[in-house]
Amino acid sequence: MKRFPNGYKALVIGASGSIGAAFVRDLQGDDRCEKVTSLSRSEVNEYQLTIDLKDEVSVQFAAHTLQLDGPFDLILVATGVLHGNDFMPEKRLADIDIKAMQETFSINTLGPALLLKYFLPLLSNAGVMGLISAKVGSIGDNRLGGWYTYRASKAALNMLIKTAAIELKRQKPEAMVVAIHPGTVISELSKPFAGGSGSKARDAAIASQEILQVLDSLNAEQSGGFFAYDGQELPW
Ligand SMILES: NC(=O)c1ccc[n+]([C@@H]2O[C@H](COP(=O)([O-])OP(=O)(O)OC[C@H]3O[C@@H](n4cnc5c(N)ncnc54)[C@H](OP(=O)(O)O)[C@@H]3O)[C@@H](O)[C@H]2O)c1
Repeated sequence: MKRFPNGYKALVIGASGSIGAAFVRDLQGDDRCEKVTSLSRSEVNEYQLTIDLKDEVSVQFAAHTLQLDGPFDLILVATGVLHGNDFMPEKRLADIDIKAMQETFSINTLGPALLLKYFLPLLSNAGVMGLISAKVGSIGDNRLGGWYTYRASKAALNMLIKTAAIELKRQKPEAMVVAIHPGTVISELSKPFAGGSGSKARDAAIASQEILQVLDSLNAEQSGGFFAYDGQELPW
């Protein structure tokens, strides 16, 4: 990425997922990037670390250990959940299930709040932290309805990011934290919904390149914003 100095350092959280793994591959292929550190729940990294967003101690411990590698010029968060073994996104209010809501909010909202708490301090002075949100979390853009929990979990994530950006600006005026919509991407998460013929789902490798290009082009004034993979600014 051109915005960072030669030898920049990157951290990808959620590196075991489709989009996260594509970020790691792209950054490893960037000659300017000195080191890419991966962190995820299911793959142990070089520091023997894993992270579970439902376990604050694991997040705190990982951040504490990775301080040695920091500060990071780029931190990408590609964790998230849409459906589980025993739940799918709701079609109607009658489908609302509190356990499924708690699980989804834990991973999509509370976990990223912990990532902001513990990892934003590891960002370099002109660094960028990008968290993958979703356009369906846009309240202004909600025309189809349904998916109550996923939509609400991402809308709340967007508010956390916007609020963190205001605090970050006071401490590091050149640094940025933004919400990113990746578009529809082929992955375990999208599989039940994006598999059919005529699907607009793109390969994660394409989404990763597009998102990295958008992050490369933003300026510090745009911190706290909500951007799509094609650079479009999305409504809250
Ligand atoms: N795919 C799409 O079409 C699409 C569209 C809009 C937004 N998004 C967003 O894009 C992001 C990445 O999704 P993806 O499509 O790449 O899905 P994915 O391949 O299913 O990846 C999901 C990632 O989240 C991690 N994760 C889940 N629960 C976790 C927990 N408790 N602690 C730590 N990590 C946890 C998974 O780790 P494990 O490997 O350990 O399970 C995996 O790395 C998500 O935020 C999703 O909402 C995706």
